[in-house]
Amino acid sequence: MAVELGRFLLLLGLAARGPAPAGAAKMKVVEEPNTFGVHNPFLPQTSRLQPKREPSPVSGPTHLFGLSGKCFSLVESTYKYEFCPFHNVTQHEQTFRWNAYSGILGIWHEWEITNNTFAGMWMRDGDSCRSRSRQSKVELTCGRSHRLAHVSEPSTCLYALTFETPLVCHPHSLLVYPVLPEALQQRWDQVAQDLAEELITPQGYEKLLRALFEDAGYLKDPREDTPAQEEGGPPGLALESLETCKKAQKELLKEVKRLRGLLAQHGIPHAGPVETPSSEPWGLKIPTAGPLAQLHSNPGLRGNVL
Ligand SMILES: *[C@@H]1O[C@H](CO)[C@@H](O)[C@H](O)[C@H]1NC(C)=O
Ligand SMILES: *[C@@H]1O[C@H](CO)[C@@H](O)[C@H](O)[C@H]1NC(C)=O
Repeated sequence: MAVELGRFLLLLGLAARGPAPAGAAKMKVVEEPNTFGVHNPFLPQTSRLQPKREPSPVSGPTHLFGLSGKCFSLVESTYKYEFCPFHNVTQHEQTFRWNAYSGILGIWHEWEITNNTFAGMWMRDGDSCRSRSRQSKVELTCGRSHRLAHVSEPSTCLYALTFETPLVCHPHSLLVYPVLPEALQQRWDQVAQDLAEELITPQGYEKLLRALFEDAGYLKDPREDTPAQEEGGPPGLALESLETCKKAQKELLKEVKRLRGLLAQHGIPHAGPVETPSSEPWGLKIPTAGPLAQLHSNPGLRGNVL
């Protein structure tokens, strides 16, 4: 560590003197690739963190609002992770190296809602990572004190954090329904009734519920999510009506035919699914199981994952 500090001071000295003398080029620290080269190493770490946007407004269970403005950290091997609920997740390399890495792993974006329960906090639009942005999902679990308990990176640039807090120990502490404003509760009642009376399908129910959660501010409309569009992939088909749905199906069947033709042309064997009879476009079947069974087995809505 003393050596690192020595290098740092030496480097400061060199910077002050302008162009490095010939011998200095042999210094290892100068040759080390600075993989985070966009950062100016002479600024303090915190001012090098440039958030891409403002965090979303504080939302969800009101008894968690007090966590806003607080930060909780965990040192794991050479990194310090910091979780600031409703604000951000950051990572700081624990070293005296002049180019120590500090980065934003996500900015508060929306809730993950599973089984009508606030299951986690999505922090998105962190520092760039290849063509995407770093993002983190923070799971809230019951614990004796507020504590960032665990951090892992289940896939590249996606971080999974576990935050323990006594605030979520009650089995009802994370339910969505009781937190909703009364008008939205009534809307949910109506939607659930429509499902029970088979006026809407389980798919329709989920779609209406998602819209309701978006109106409550718990979920963000992915179409308004400009940074997500940078992440590549074709834009999602918005199936607004039966007409557009049928049209989209026709387009897709045409594309499947074209691709099959291509495969055949190149002698590549393939086993595709049987073509959907046009009288029964997908997703529009009336469920045969009882509506209440459907309601109870409803796995809930998920935030749009990746
Ligand atoms: C992260 O959130 C904390 C708490 O609100 C704030 O003090 C800090 O400046 C934020 N960091 C970044 C990089 O935005
Ligand atoms: C969904 O929530 C209900 C009540 O809160 C619970 O009984 C059920 O086990 C949960 N189901 C899943 C799949 O988590």
